[in-house]
Amino acid sequence: MAFKLSSLTPITDLQFPTFHTQFLQTIPVFRSSSLQQKLLDSKLHSRRKSSLCSNSLNQETVQNLTPTSTPPASSNKLVLVTGGTGGVGQLVVASLLNRDVKMRLLLRNPEKATTLFGEQEEEKLQVIKGDTRNSEDLDPSMFEGVTHVICCTGTTAFPSRRWDGENTPERVDWEGVRNLVSALPRSLSRIILVSSVGVTKSNELPWSIMNLFGVLKYKKMGEDFVINSGIPYTIIRPGRLTDGPYTSYDLNTLLKATAGERRAVLIGQGDKLVGEVSRLVVAEACIQALNIDFTEGQIYEINSVPGDGPGSDTEKWKELFKAAQLQ
Ligand SMILES: NC(=O)c1ccc[n+]([C@@H]2O[C@H](COP(=O)([O-])OP(=O)(O)OC[C@H]3O[C@@H](n4cnc5c(N)ncnc54)[C@H](OP(=O)(O)O)[C@@H]3O)[C@@H](O)[C@H]2O)c1
Repeated sequence: MAFKLSSLTPITDLQFPTFHTQFLQTIPVFRSSSLQQKLLDSKLHSRRKSSLCSNSLNQETVQNLTPTSTPPASSNKLVLVTGGTGGVGQLVVASLLNRDVKMRLLLRNPEKATTLFGEQEEEKLQVIKGDTRNSEDLDPSMFEGVTHVICCTGTTAFPSRRWDGENTPERVDWEGVRNLVSALPRSLSRIILVSSVGVTKSNELPWSIMNLFGVLKYKKMGEDFVINSGIPYTIIRPGRLTDGPYTSYDLNTLLKATAGERRAVLIGQGDKLVGEVSRLVVAEACIQALNIDFTEGQIYEINSVPGDGPGSDTEKWKELFKAAQLQ
């Protein structure tokens, strides 16, 4: 069963999950490690080895997430994921773990990572405590060694409990993105920013309704900051998100997530696409864009519809991204 709560969900549809309380009740004690000690001052928490997740992956789960090819071998990437506890973000993290890609997560509540992904080897997954709204939380030293970034942060478009403590679109989608990008190493190979369709049309119906509290305006400001930062970027603008966030919080369940019928992918440019997209498809698009050179400097809108999709086949994703650019 999936929560209906989503960042751009109309307020009348909002349901408030209670899982934050559950997370807090299941916090395991972090074990000490050399890296944890070294980075304690900069709030970097790290994880030690556990067989909880990786050992129990089975063929079925791998096939569900990566239906058309096996996970690539581990790479030299170190991917920083922000919003890794969110609907799209948790699928990004699970999928990168499955592909043996090293990650650093920036989380307001690092304990959530253990609940979602189990305890992982320090080499594979490190967790930094930080709130993107607070630039003092984002010391550039915390991002040393990071080669790529996938930014999946967000909040609700309309007032909700997720705005508590002023966690509003202005603070998260604009100031948070600005703070993050400002702190990132200039040597970064790529930042992938998850934004939204409609950001260029926030004054037009029906987008102006979605934009009543500024979410589209602030996402566009975040986009522009990324574009002007000089860091190589790709912007992914999803339609309305479907499928998830998932309510069973462990890596194996996340890896079993499927896009259901909605596997066929539509990619456009020019902010003309309107529709829905599976969170799993958005997560895969972010990961694929990291590996496809010609997506650098591009903005793509993405939807998914019933039918067969590209799964994790990079050649098929290349065709989809390329076709969008030729339209
Ligand atoms: N829902 C839609 O239909 C829709 C449509 C188009 C685009 N989008 C966008 O797509 C992206 C992914 O959506 P989603 O539904 O997967 O997101 P989500 O479930 O709302 O997750 C948001 C993530 O951002 C993190 N976050 C929020 N405020 C933060 C802060 N101040 N500092 C650090 N992290 C913070 C949250 O962490 P915590 O655990 O700390 O809260 C969570 O991990 C978002 O940018 C969203 O706006 C959504």
